[in-house]
Amino acid sequence: MYIIAGSTGTLGSAVTEELSKTDDIFIIGRDNDKLKTQANKYNCNYQVLDLLNTPEPREFTKIIEPDVEIKGLVNCIGSILIKPLHGTSIEEFNDVITTNLFSSYYLMASFARRMKNGSAIFFSSVAGSKGLSNHEAISAAKAGIEGFARSAAATYAKDNLRVNVIAPSIMDSNMSQKILSTETAREVSKNMHPISKIGDTDDILPVIKWLLSPDAKWVTGQTIHVDGGLSTVKPR
Ligand SMILES: NC(=O)c1ccc[n+]([C@@H]2O[C@H](COP(=O)([O-])OP(=O)(O)OC[C@H]3O[C@@H](n4cnc5c(N)ncnc54)[C@H](OP(=O)(O)O)[C@@H]3O)[C@@H](O)[C@H]2O)c1
Repeated sequence: MYIIAGSTGTLGSAVTEELSKTDDIFIIGRDNDKLKTQANKYNCNYQVLDLLNTPEPREFTKIIEPDVEIKGLVNCIGSILIKPLHGTSIEEFNDVITTNLFSSYYLMASFARRMKNGSAIFFSSVAGSKGLSNHEAISAAKAGIEGFARSAAATYAKDNLRVNVIAPSIMDSNMSQKILSTETAREVSKNMHPISKIGDTDDILPVIKWLLSPDAKWVTGQTIHVDGGLSTVKPR
């Protein structure tokens, strides 16, 4: 079975659709109605998770029966905040850390010991490694995820549990709708990328499927940048 958290988001929905074709899935999110509809569609179980009121991980792990083999975890829960540091409130900063970094800690703490020979995938962003203006909060959260995943990869290597991170640049999704709401904004975003394009779930899904598959059996502790080259490439 694969666990997909944030299954009701744009990327989470695509991962849910794809993995449900071949495997049992278990979905986790914050909205009971959306999860219920999705669970009916894919004939799977689900769990609501309130990140501000979480049980201890050793309790949460019980949402999946102990005899079920968990082959992987994909945490698609995340958010974006583009604001200068001096304009970011404590609540906003904490919310970004909770949604992105805490959710990753919490899900991994809950299920790591149950994923022997498994694969866990978390999401950073281009802001996790490149200093982009007005991205301080999200940059802190995503860089935290990259560090957390490297350490977890070391801790759980003895169980042959692989832990990796995918770091996309801007993609069409619920999250980026506002940012990409005008043609001008879309052109600017597109042209920031050495490979001039806005990302989409089709750019990310093959990487997720590969990381979950035995083809990636020797890949752990990595952050894989799927960002049209933005983080590392500067064409002339
Ligand atoms: N889209 C981009 O441009 C972009 C770029 C770089 C990295 N990423 C990363 O890619 C991952 C997937 O994002 P996406 O593009 O699919 O965005 P999305 O459609 O907005 O999905 C985000 C998911 O996170 C959930 N979520 C948000 N706040 C939450 C909270 N406080 N508690 C619980 N769940 C919460 C949402 O729940 P609901 O469905 O209930 O709203 C949704 O399932 C995220 O980690 C994101 O940071 C995205």
